[in-house]
Amino acid sequence: MQTLQKDPGAYLYSQVIDLISDNIESGALRPGDRLPSLRKMSQSAGVSIPTVRQAYIELERQRRIESRPQSGFYVRPQAANQLVDPAPSSASLAPCMHCRPLMERVYDGINDPRLVPLGIANPCMAKPAAKSLHRAMKRVMARTEERAIGYASTLGEPALRRQIAYHYLDSIGAQVDPEHIAITNGGQEALLLALKAVASTGDVIAVETPTYHGLLELIDSLGMLAVEVETCPEEGVTLSELRRTLEQHDVKVCMFATTLGNPLGVTMPEHDRRKLIDLLEEFDATLIEDDVYGDLRFDGVRPVPAQFLRKSKRIITCGSFSKTAAPGYRMGWVVSEQYIDRIARFKRAFSCSSGLLQQLTLADFLATGDYARHLKVLRPILKTNADRMSALVAEHFPATTRTSRPVGASVLWLELPESVDAIQLFDDAIAAGISIAPGAIFSPSERYANFIRLSYGHPWSERTEDALRWLGKRAGELSQLGRG
Ligand SMILES: Cc1ncc(COP(=O)(O)O)c(C=O)c1O
Repeated sequence: MQTLQKDPGAYLYSQVIDLISDNIESGALRPGDRLPSLRKMSQSAGVSIPTVRQAYIELERQRRIESRPQSGFYVRPQAANQLVDPAPSSASLAPCMHCRPLMERVYDGINDPRLVPLGIANPCMAKPAAKSLHRAMKRVMARTEERAIGYASTLGEPALRRQIAYHYLDSIGAQVDPEHIAITNGGQEALLLALKAVASTGDVIAVETPTYHGLLELIDSLGMLAVEVETCPEEGVTLSELRRTLEQHDVKVCMFATTLGNPLGVTMPEHDRRKLIDLLEEFDATLIEDDVYGDLRFDGVRPVPAQFLRKSKRIITCGSFSKTAAPGYRMGWVVSEQYIDRIARFKRAFSCSSGLLQQLTLADFLATGDYARHLKVLRPILKTNADRMSALVAEHFPATTRTSRPVGASVLWLELPESVDAIQLFDDAIAAGISIAPGAIFSPSERYANFIRLSYGHPWSERTEDALRWLGKRAGELSQLGRG
């Protein structure tokens, strides 16, 4: 191992970090190798034990090393089939919709009920709450009669806004004023209203890469430009990359799903979410946080949206019941103190208000505790589906396929061998009766040509397993063809 040449201008612990990193990069320390003990390292480097400990802890946080109980620290093996951090690339501005025709074909597949639905992110359909929602709707109809078929107010039914505020209090201890909540037609309209409230045509919007394709369609339809920020498959947006992007471009808004993203299924650690707020304040940018999956972490520990970590008027939070309860109800919401009046103005202009019957039904569903009970049942089913899908991918897809390790929600992100054309795989799958989402639609630039997203948000069945076996086999054939 190389030795420490002390530099009086740098912190000692960061010099130890550099020393270990250099040794890993040169191959002197290889995955699985044990690092010198704290005492040994302190003696050989001529620094104190606490300094070495601090360096090791930071390297562990960076996931370069891992501690094993009663054994010490080891260089972290890069799991053979786990997605790796993307190499930083210089971000460039892109109009979003280079692949509009492909997107349209993906939606055709999603909307075709004959296909095995691996193309749509639809977590709640793994255990539909149709019966209890039906009972709630019947109660509402009996209670309210004509009122339920009338117009709702622009910002939405007070009972539902109160229930959403209560849900934040109950799940994360956040105090939200129902007056700062606007009910929308799904998460998609929530994102639209939030974006309209803070940005205009020509503005630059930073997005994660890969990101939710609906966001790209939205940015494009408003005549805005997207800039991609590298996103780590385990920790979300890479803050150093975000800083670089903010330095290079006049970014007006960041649209990130830091609580639980699509398609990576990753939660940004809370300390990074706090740093993100500081960074955006430094560069005078607004954060629109897409929190539609926040209730669906497998472990049930709800990540706290940035807006509730630190009071900042520059953060707008968007939520939805589409992923957790009823996508067809088209019920979402926006939370913002600063922009609620502008949001109300745009809401009135675009759609007047959202469906009252669905709002009253969901208010009842939350108030009776049925929503909380439903989530408790849904999460472990999603986790089991995720495990089953990962296992089948490992068994049937080409050996070098890498997969995400989602911590919640309903999708798996796969990097296939480079020689596989994922659009070809998508076309072949449709012909074989399976819908999938090709990677290209998750980026405004031409990336992810050999990636696909698969959904496990449906009741698991033989049909699902057969579809995965078929996809794995076809991906193998395409990888051979691509090489030839
Ligand atoms: C990350 C993300 N945000 C927002 C939405 C839109 O949700 P909704 O169906 O409530 O409009 C989706 C739907 O797929 C999504 O995946």
